Amino acid sequence: MVQTALPALLVGLAAVAAARNCQNLTIPITISARNARFTLQAPANNIEVTDFTLNLAQPGVNYTAEVLSSNGINGTDGQFADVSGHYTIGATYCTPSSGPGKALQILTHGIAFDRWYWDFSAEYSYVDAALARGYAVFFYDRLGLGDSSRGDPVNEVQAPLEVQALRALTAMLRDASAPGIDDTYEKFVHVGHSFGSVLSYALTAAYPELSDGVALTGFSQALGDFVAYFLYGANFVEASSAAPALAAYPPGYLATADAPGVQTNFFAPGNFDPAVLEAAYAAGQPVTVGELMTIGTVAAGSNSFGGPVLVITGERDIPFCGGNCSTSEPSIPAQTRPYFTNTSSFEAIVVPGAGHGLNLVNTLYLPSWEKAAKL
Ligand SMILES: *[C@@H]1O[C@H](CO)[C@@H](O)[C@H](O)[C@H]1NC(C)=O
Ligand SMILES: *[C@@H]1O[C@H](CO)[C@@H](O)[C@H](O)[C@H]1NC(C)=O
Ligand SMILES: *[C@@H]1O[C@H](CO)[C@@H](O)[C@H](O)[C@H]1NC(C)=O
Ligand SMILES: *[C@@H]1O[C@H](CO)[C@@H](O)[C@H](O)[C@H]1NC(C)=O
Ligand SMILES: *[C@@H]1O[C@H](CO)[C@@H](O)[C@H](O)[C@H]1NC(C)=O
Repeated sequence: MVQTALPALLVGLAAVAAARNCQNLTIPITISARNARFTLQAPANNIEVTDFTLNLAQPGVNYTAEVLSSNGINGTDGQFADVSGHYTIGATYCTPSSGPGKALQILTHGIAFDRWYWDFSAEYSYVDAALARGYAVFFYDRLGLGDSSRGDPVNEVQAPLEVQALRALTAMLRDASAPGIDDTYEKFVHVGHSFGSVLSYALTAAYPELSDGVALTGFSQALGDFVAYFLYGANFVEASSAAPALAAYPPGYLATADAPGVQTNFFAPGNFDPAVLEAAYAAGQPVTVGELMTIGTVAAGSNSFGGPVLVITGERDIPFCGGNCSTSEPSIPAQTRPYFTNTSSFEAIVVPGAGHGLNLVNTLYLPSWEKAAKL
């Protein structure tokens, strides 16, 4: 059932303002991944984008499987191909005014945003909230968008390659070798939102030794049941036609066409400032068709990560709960528990009245991770 009192783990942040030391960085990485290889051509116009949405969201058909290549190439089985490259990642690193501290949070944003989801405005800043609690933060633009490198939207910018980007960044942060960051930390906590939570789940499942705690916000293991709601709600068009700021993105990079699409997927009735909705739409960022076709593949299966896990999802979340996380007991986010076969502690929280865009509701909720830091 819906929780009526917020656990102590969540902290209302309205009044928190922190001194901050931040720097913007450009971090080169060299990565490779076994991506899916699709025969699909990037949708060339908005009619083809809508056709893509209708195909991908259609029940009874696995469109991702249908457009997987079946021709072997270069010694692979044809359906998958190793993709590798040198990329740069746009990132921001912030430490509290008291110094770096013991724990660094690595923040991965979701679809429709860039890294500024975590530091959206003076009033809506997860970054400030974490800094005020003594955590340093590293947040970055996902591959393909913002200040990070672009790539082919069908067969390159896909979830498997983005897991490798997160792995490379994490490895650099863990051994203090990221250019511009030589602080060392005892703990590294991965915090995701939405697709960023999917990537954080996938990272900790494949490389459990790279993390000391994971917070999955806007997450459950029921995405497959509800992703069609998100796809239909988004009203995707070519990013280049969605907003002047996105004009340079090539076909196959999609973005939400209008503010109502953002509202449907990220905001709950009666629990947001309309000016924040407009700002979220104005700051909207693209997603590739390759990402949309692989988001469901990397976080499938169990996760033997041994550290603490927190899942925190808005009660009215659309993509991961279908608009109500409490239709079952345990809640849909709490049903993530059995996937974590080796976690030292697991907690799932349903935030009353909140939608999918947890950092953008009137009261910002922060998983404080004191538990992780104390381990
Ligand atoms: C980092 O980049 C953002 C966006 O361009 C800018 O607003 C901010 O002032 C920069 N921060 C620093 C510390 O340079
Ligand atoms: C659809 O097909 C892909 C590729 O074979 C597979 O990874 C995925 O699990 C399938 N999805 C469902 C819901 O069966
Ligand atoms: C296949 O291998 C050739 C020769 O190494 C290379 O030029 C080509 O790009 C490869 N094709 C793919 C799809 O990886
Ligand atoms: C469970 O987690 C612990 C602590 O991280 C680790 O040492 C151990 O290898 C993990 N067990 C399995 C089966 O993955
Ligand atoms: C969610 O579903 C439960 C069970 O059907 C219901 O009791 C609850 O009122 C619903 N929540 C909302 C916010 O409508």
